[in-house]
Amino acid sequence: MKNKNLTFSGVQPTGNLHLGNYLGALKNFVDLQNKMECIYCVVDLHAITVYQKPSELKENILETTAAFLASGLDENKSIIFNQSSVSGHAELAWILNCICRVGWLNRMTQFKDKAGKDKEKASVGLYIYPNLMAADILLYKATHVPVGEDQKQHLELSRDIAQKFNRDFQVENFFPLPEPIIQKNISRVMSLRDGLKKMSKSEESDFARINLRDSKDLIMQKIKKAKTDSLPIPEKKKDLINRPEALNLLNIYSDLTKKSLDVTLNEFQGKDFSVFKKKLSEALIEIVCPVGEKIEKLMKDKTFLQKVLQKGTENAYKIAEENLKKTREIIGLL
Ligand code: AMP
Ligand code: TRP
Repeated sequence: MKNKNLTFSGVQPTGNLHLGNYLGALKNFVDLQNKMECIYCVVDLHAITVYQKPSELKENILETTAAFLASGLDENKSIIFNQSSVSGHAELAWILNCICRVGWLNRMTQFKDKAGKDKEKASVGLYIYPNLMAADILLYKATHVPVGEDQKQHLELSRDIAQKFNRDFQVENFFPLPEPIIQKNISRVMSLRDGLKKMSKSEESDFARINLRDSKDLIMQKIKKAKTDSLPIPEKKKDLINRPEALNLLNIYSDLTKKSLDVTLNEFQGKDFSVFKKKLSEALIEIVCPVGEKIEKLMKDKTFLQKVLQKGTENAYKIAEENLKKTREIIGLL
């Protein structure tokens, strides 16, 4: 039997949602909302794989919910909820821990990056983080998963786990193999300070990223200070090969203005970066500031945000329970 199309994705409530989250993930979430049933999750259990201050975590769960809505998600069209309120995520994650092989986890580059030099001191949760992510997706039998490029390896692992489960228990197609949906034009928004590093919440300098809640003035300042090089904007894409910062800014502009990189190059070729940066700031202000303002407004009505999560939780729970019940039966649990 073919599984019906269903989208699932998650964002960690770790604060400072930025342009990379927006262009790499949230914008895609909204597009998919009109195409199929979608479930969007604030993955609080993933966030605690590194220590979070409890009071900040609470606030960040609500802020991520607000960011979902401010980006255009509609709680009447999509299921919006937080992971820890549906206990099936943790239960299925345990089952999948028993399917996934240690060797598979050892290949995960995000763990290596996040754990840093002293792996012995990383939490066990951080190590098995990808299995919880697989559980998130498989709990709903999701077929489509919009994510940034940095999550591609985790998605491939989810597919391997689904495949091994189906094979071990001889239940062909029980878990669908989820497809990643990754933005083609700008799959990875890079840091404004280093074009070889992705834009991230954890980078120390705030000037490395555009946060969704940044003011107009701050956006202008950040773009003014963004690293470029001394050459003018080239005519051809191939001339951007060794200019990662220039490429990143041009890609961001193209994505925001819905133009191809070729069209952008045509518009600015031979010009100085100062001219281009002005236009880029304008585009950012036009798109990011309204989202930031909506987040701010929504954060003033926390009761509403909690209601959205509660309704989403009820709907998510129903699907999760049904799939978990079948999963338990398949495994032979009483
Ligand atoms: P996280 O904040 O790590 O939970 O990420 C939420 C979503 O944003 C995931 O789909 C990530 O792949 C995506 N994402 C995070 N940083 C970037 C980036 N710099 N460029 C593109 N997508 C990103
Ligand atoms: N690991 C993802 C990230 O850091 C967040 C995430 C958790 C997720 N569970 C998921 C994304 C399930 C897609 C599907 O960005």
